[in-house]
Amino acid sequence: MPLSDIKNVVLIGPMAAGKSSVGKLLAALLNIDFIDTDKAIEEACGIDISRIFEFEGEAGFRKRETAVIRNLIGIENHIIATGGGTILALENRKILLKLGAIVYLRVTLEQILERTSKSRHRPLLEHSNQRLTVEKLLVEREPIYSQMADVTIHPDCHQRIQKTPYDIMKALAHCNLDRCE
Ligand code: S3P
Repeated sequence: MPLSDIKNVVLIGPMAAGKSSVGKLLAALLNIDFIDTDKAIEEACGIDISRIFEFEGEAGFRKRETAVIRNLIGIENHIIATGGGTILALENRKILLKLGAIVYLRVTLEQILERTSKSRHRPLLEHSNQRLTVEKLLVEREPIYSQMADVTIHPDCHQRIQKTPYDIMKALAHCNLDRCE
């Protein structure tokens, strides 16, 4: 399917996979709009994600996340970057799959740990053994990312991030996207 026929491109994958940075670049290259669902959640309630977790816990955050995902129904011509756990809820998965092509940015445990080691805005990693937590998240989530993905991209840790959007475009142009018609 030509890229121009794809309604939207949805980026999924674990935290620190580069979904937001790559999504912005891809949107700029294709000259279409970009939505970051984490940012949309923050804008909707006026506080950052760490604060939402602090005040409402993960359950409260997930409800807000699903509200933002519901708001995406019907949109076209967007690159959408999701949060690492957006795919956990069945309702979110169904909506995302209908939105367009799903691109999984697959990174290794070591890449995630390296990139999150200095991060201060990832509430799931606070007050915990980061390696164990990320390992547990990957065990639970990797099968879901893989199952949803129309294409899987492995952003090489040595490669410049600028190359990843081109890898995505090439992969989308060559994969079967009948599911998205
Ligand atoms: C989360 C990932 C975060 C954010 C929230 C929960 C997760 O997004 O949605 O902290 O459950 O993995 P990123 O994947 O953009 O870091």
